Amino acid sequence: MPDGSLPNTQTLPDIDSYFRPTSNERARMGFVSAMRKHVLVEKQGEMKREYEDIAVPAYKAKTGHAPRNGDEAETAMDGRLVYSVYGALRYNAQEMVWASVQEPVERTLPDMISLAQKAAAENPTGGSLRLDPTLEVPRYVSALDVHLIPGCFHSEYTKDDVAQGAVVSFGGMVFSGALGWRQGLKGKYGAVGESVAHYIHSKYPDFKPKRILDMGTASGKNLMPYADTFPGAEIYGIDVAAPLLRFGHAKAEAAGLPIHFSQQNAETADFPDGYFDLIVSSFFFHEVPVKSTKVILKECHRLLAKGGIMAHMELPPRKSCTPYVNFFWDWDTLNNNEPAYSAFRASDPTVLSTEAGFKAGTCFELVIPNRATFGDDNFAKFVKGEMPPPPHGGGGWFIFGSVK
Ligand SMILES: C[S@@+](CC[C@H](N)C(=O)[O-])C[C@H]1O[C@@H](n2cnc3c(N)ncnc32)[C@H](O)[C@@H]1O
Repeated sequence: MPDGSLPNTQTLPDIDSYFRPTSNERARMGFVSAMRKHVLVEKQGEMKREYEDIAVPAYKAKTGHAPRNGDEAETAMDGRLVYSVYGALRYNAQEMVWASVQEPVERTLPDMISLAQKAAAENPTGGSLRLDPTLEVPRYVSALDVHLIPGCFHSEYTKDDVAQGAVVSFGGMVFSGALGWRQGLKGKYGAVGESVAHYIHSKYPDFKPKRILDMGTASGKNLMPYADTFPGAEIYGIDVAAPLLRFGHAKAEAAGLPIHFSQQNAETADFPDGYFDLIVSSFFFHEVPVKSTKVILKECHRLLAKGGIMAHMELPPRKSCTPYVNFFWDWDTLNNNEPAYSAFRASDPTVLSTEAGFKAGTCFELVIPNRATFGDDNFAKFVKGEMPPPPHGGGGWFIFGSVK
């Protein structure tokens, strides 16, 4: 808590404390984290060297030019052993991420569900959970296992299920190698939310949002830092996936964060016009077809009060990356059940925002530093324009948005 101004009732245990992997399960989770890191650093490094030293010259000899975009870079790499090994290992590591946490989640699932039920019935911290069993989950979520997560985000197998929330949350720690040793500044919040909230606060010191909305919040990991940065603001998170919302609500209530979670489609949110001063999202739009992204950005424009700020963290657009980097990022479209990813990256966030009603001169696109690794002193220099940010994915995060 920043200054003790938020209630911290401590009447509920943290739902994370119910996750008790055995030493063997822990070892498996550690192995998967290490394997992912190996693939993304060593194997990816090998692949880049082969691209530069062999694939580009071969492609040039055949076509008369070097790959001009990510698709051509992929064509240049297609069939090369190093790319096949990289892809196979990365795909398997992705499947193993979720498998590595499933057993410990299953073992304590009844206790996690009881805790989430208690949180929803009592709301000891003053947040809320509003579910809509009639909500139609959009096909871009329901038709496939996004990120290869068995059951995706929304599936429910038992009454008041939180299993997907737990699998996504604990699997996310295995994914990022954050098994208790690197989970953001506060040890439990998302690094993206910490960084974007800190950036907005530093860049616009007089901005005091009364209400904040996170779209596609999942379990609110990257929403929770806003409660620290903007104490006193009402905090809202929406998502279509009930198990993630139940899990996040239980976590927030135990942490003393009065967050209002509701199950809604961001294309048609039920809040009144101009209700929010700050609208954010993270890792959201690349999973949404561009057609729906356009609708959601119009919703952002409708929901945002005059003078309000919209800030979305996303993958960097194709226009800002080299052909190799585009080939690297777009791997997920081809292999990770994220069909909308490449089309989002091929679009222009500022054009999408202006089409949604935001004025061109008020739109921004930039990379900001990851707060935890960059440090607050350097972050302050970055905001003053005295230090460049690290690249997206290498210690920085791409964001786009607008001041309405
Ligand atoms: C990759 S997750 C983002 C997680 C979260 N923002 C974070 O930073 O950890 C994408 C989330 O968007 C949700 N989602 C997808 N389409 C949605 C829509 N139209 N409205 C609301 N939520 C949506 C999914 O259920 C999923 O939880």
